[in-house]
Amino acid sequence: MLEEIARLKKEKNIKIFAHNYQNHEVQQVADYIGDSFYLSKLSKEVDCETIIFCGVKFMAETTKILSPDKKVILPVEEALCPMAHMISPEDIIEFKKTHPDFKIVAYINTTTDIKACVDVCVTSSTAVKIIDSLEEKNILFVPDMNLGNYISKKIKDKNIISWNGYCNVHDRVTKEEVINMKNKYPDAPILVHPECRKEVVDLADFVGSTSEIIEYAKSIDKKRIIIGTETGVLHVLRDLNPDKKFDLLSPNLICINMKKTTLEDVYNAVTGKGGLNIEIEENLRVKALNSIKEMIRLAK
Ligand code: 13P
Ligand code: SF4
Repeated sequence: MLEEIARLKKEKNIKIFAHNYQNHEVQQVADYIGDSFYLSKLSKEVDCETIIFCGVKFMAETTKILSPDKKVILPVEEALCPMAHMISPEDIIEFKKTHPDFKIVAYINTTTDIKACVDVCVTSSTAVKIIDSLEEKNILFVPDMNLGNYISKKIKDKNIISWNGYCNVHDRVTKEEVINMKNKYPDAPILVHPECRKEVVDLADFVGSTSEIIEYAKSIDKKRIIIGTETGVLHVLRDLNPDKKFDLLSPNLICINMKKTTLEDVYNAVTGKGGLNIEIEENLRVKALNSIKEMIRLAK
């Protein structure tokens, strides 16, 4: 399968994108591995005919919104982020009716329908910078309440209301798990994703996106580091830092949706035997593109 994937990638001008949370076997055949911001931006810049996006559906859709001329394939149709479905366009329309002076900001972990009816998108690595740069004081942040709380803590002079969505993987990490790890390894810094609950984030030594965690772990001179995000990042961390030890903050940090894609699924997508060809109706795509373009502009 590895040889066939490599051969067909060249023959069909395919590039494989993999999120930091993907299985190691999938990351090994990827041309690019990264966080959601890096991969979204990259989709426009990379010269190829087809992108096979190994991640969850909203990520492949973001790629298609930005690069409509490329074929974008999600190897496993059922790889969905549950948080992306915790808000509907009707919810936003209702909110706008009663709060006309609010700027609506959506986490990239949303459906295309949501991206089409909000003002700007953000990723975990760009959220604070982008929201801080907005002129408006009143902000509705959807759908992740934990990331919303983190942004509110960082930006004091805005009135930020968060929706009540959450990531069912990061939200499971408890304060007790952080305290236990601190007792077990007092010298090991704890690095967490901002999708974790406030009480977890408050006790952490570093908070950042998957790629920011990877960068930070590389930059610090520590023998052991505790990681508070999905287990897939451990593959990247161990590949990059063979001399450091990494422990997962909680055994629950496994996203079953990110783990649905196997090497065989990638093989089937490359050969054309499997995978979902992402298609987005043009009017909807153009509307969703506005909030994504705004994200890229404000993140600079
Ligand atoms: P990143 O933006 O850090 O890649 O996060 C995406 C995600 O789904 C986190 O759970
Ligand atoms: Fe969605 Fe959470 Fe999985 Fe990320 S880790 S894709 S936010 S369910």
